[in-house]
Amino acid sequence: MKLIGPFKQIITLANLPLRGKISDEQLEIVEDGGIIVNGNKIYKIGNFENLKSENQNIEIEKVQGEQIVLPAFTDSHTHICFGGNRANDFAMRNAGKTYLEIAESGGGIWSSVQHTRNASEEELLKTLLERIDFLIALGITTIEVKSGYGLDVENELKMLRTIQKAQQQTLATLVPTCLSAHLKPRDFKGSNEEYLQYILNEILPTVKEENLAKRVDIFIEKSAFQPEESKTFLLETKKLGFDITVHADQFTPGSSRIAVEVRAKSADHLEATVDEDIEFIAQSETVATALPGASLGLGEKFTPARKLLDAGAILAIASDWNPGSAPMGNLITQASILATFEKLTTAEVLAGITFRSAFALGLQDRGKLEVGLKADFVTFKTDNFQNVLYHQGSLRAEHVYIEGMKIE
Ligand code: NIG
Ligand code: FE
Repeated sequence: MKLIGPFKQIITLANLPLRGKISDEQLEIVEDGGIIVNGNKIYKIGNFENLKSENQNIEIEKVQGEQIVLPAFTDSHTHICFGGNRANDFAMRNAGKTYLEIAESGGGIWSSVQHTRNASEEELLKTLLERIDFLIALGITTIEVKSGYGLDVENELKMLRTIQKAQQQTLATLVPTCLSAHLKPRDFKGSNEEYLQYILNEILPTVKEENLAKRVDIFIEKSAFQPEESKTFLLETKKLGFDITVHADQFTPGSSRIAVEVRAKSADHLEATVDEDIEFIAQSETVATALPGASLGLGEKFTPARKLLDAGAILAIASDWNPGSAPMGNLITQASILATFEKLTTAEVLAGITFRSAFALGLQDRGKLEVGLKADFVTFKTDNFQNVLYHQGSLRAEHVYIEGMKIE
């Protein structure tokens, strides 16, 4: 056991609701606080001096200067296992070129597939670990990582095995997701339905056997997979025992309904979601995940986060870090900007990148500073927690703790 502190403010996020709007008055703030860690879990939180006198012989890990502490963050949607770079797509898009023109000049998802297929496992692992370290430095200790740039048996398994190897080399929790249904690859001879069948028959059995992922994702969109074939596929993956998440309503509305109908853990993107579907999502257990990094990368509108919260949805915010639509990777900057445009309270943003995004991954043991939860937290050198979002990501995390150990 050890006592860590004193912290100027501990923002516990305790007692906040899983769904719907939250006012900043609902935030519990412990002033001049301390955290007692036992093993990898939080044992007690309270006034530092009181905890010290109540626990005479306890080891004390003293905090230098004024710092505030928050639960560590969860990024519940990333594509950070990839080869290559799509800076040329970004430049062409900004110069007014269309999706088709970019694809024809060798860009688009297919270009990342080729680079990822050509990358050696060592290269892929090295760059994945570098991106994980970037996220940890922001205070993110739980990271979802998708496949989806391999798009055949060999390369999808290569990606997922690389993510599994990365897990052995990082203290962060990685949550792998099989996104073989990102796009039908150009070299697949057959229809969309046949490709989805190929995933079911040739990829998912090995994913299960080697315990490479417990989640399956699909991109439902005019340019990718169509609603009906996607629904059939998702119901089949459910029978195999996978949890489901969906890239839904990014440009075309409608697919978030499917996500809810198949009881997906989350429906992500939702930039194009219509009002009736907002209500439908809000009445479900499916987490609505906003991906402001994709809106910023593409110059598209933001997910209607305000409306979703007002309707009572469980709103998570994730980075979507990928080489194409969301190259930034800074979830704190993105969440802060989303708050400005969508009028979200500080409490709603913090909930969206902590316990609500963890819930989207099926994890309820983290994301709040509460007794018995995982002792993952992040500190900032400031006297007021509001400064974290106010500086839009430029106030860097001071220390990151995973399971009670200071790792940064
Ligand atoms: O989440 N929308 C589909 N997939 C990714 C983009 C992937 C890419 O462009 O490489 C996304 O935005
Ligand atoms: Fe994505």
